Amino acid sequence: MAASSKKVSAASARAHTRKQKQGSSSILPSGMLKKISLVVLVGLTAWFYKVIQPPAPTICGTHNGTPVTSSRIKLRDGRHLAYLEAGVPKEKASHKIIFIHGFASCKYDMLPVSSELAEELGVYLLAFDRAGYGESDPDPKKSPKSTALDIEELADQLNLGSKFYVIGFSMGGEIVWGCLKYISHRLSGAALVAPVANYWWPGFPANVSKEAYSQQLMQDRWAVGVAHYTPWLTYWWNTQKWFPSSSVIAGLMDIFSASDKEVLPKLMGRAHMPYITKQGIFETLHRDMIVGFGSWEFDPLDLDNPFPGIEGSVHLWHGTEDLLVPIILTRYITQKLPWIVYHELPGAGHLFPLADGMTDAIVRALLQEKN
Ligand SMILES: *[C@@H]1O[C@H](CO)[C@@H](O)[C@H](O)[C@H]1NC(C)=O
Repeated sequence: MAASSKKVSAASARAHTRKQKQGSSSILPSGMLKKISLVVLVGLTAWFYKVIQPPAPTICGTHNGTPVTSSRIKLRDGRHLAYLEAGVPKEKASHKIIFIHGFASCKYDMLPVSSELAEELGVYLLAFDRAGYGESDPDPKKSPKSTALDIEELADQLNLGSKFYVIGFSMGGEIVWGCLKYISHRLSGAALVAPVANYWWPGFPANVSKEAYSQQLMQDRWAVGVAHYTPWLTYWWNTQKWFPSSSVIAGLMDIFSASDKEVLPKLMGRAHMPYITKQGIFETLHRDMIVGFGSWEFDPLDLDNPFPGIEGSVHLWHGTEDLLVPIILTRYITQKLPWIVYHELPGAGHLFPLADGMTDAIVRALLQEKN
């Protein structure tokens, strides 16, 4: 009984296969189907590859870019770096400060040091466009280290002497860690002003980075997550229209606290966006996110005091109402690295250095000058 039913089912299976073969051959041969699927798959892959590719940068001073308007130096690897000098002439200066701009900014966003203070203390100021921004050539190999080395080379080509200060604001503050790691022997001191931190620095306890990450707007959690885990999707993510992209790129007001909104008109008055991204948004904004939130080759939380025996060489300022850069990361860093002089500003947002007199106060503290 059992044997005969097996025979029957085997026969019906053969019939079924035959029917299938006939069925498919009457519409399309299966080989053809496979070919078509393959063509569709290759087509889709090529299309996706094309839409996620950033366009080539329009390099300043080349036939498809805009003319050069800035003073520039040529770096060892052939890239140009655009710069801007202010304050007292460097020959007369007692202090030289190099300013590192933040995300979506440029050399014209140098923090506002008053000319009175520059005269009083003898301060020479130098700002530059970070690689890819403004009129500085893009650096496809950009890293926390490369920007520090660009700064050193800039100082040497402009004959700043053996030592100078660095001040970095926001994403520029994050780059100061690279200066402390790689060129601390060239520094008189450093200031990190509302510095961005990277949730993936291994020294952060999981609960601290998780808490900070969750304080971000949902769209920024996605934007930095994409930059960290799938950097090759960063261009597409921030240019597609289906999901909200980075709130900073989108120009969302939610990221500004009440005190930020008071100084915002000053920032609007300094809007250099067409200059900032004239070589394309990928080499400026997107590469900044990829490097800033990528996997770093060192952990700032592991740094030893680069100036042992010298009090107060590294300062950090952060506002308690900073909605852009979570303060809890800074609190953890400054607890872990007690050689940093930490200035926590109650009620201040992210843009506090633009408030009247604040940048002068930062410079005074850094140069250890009393009022
Ligand atoms: C993280 O965990 C430690 C140890 O349990 C605790 O002391 C600290 O307050 C926590 N921090 C945050 C931000 O949750």
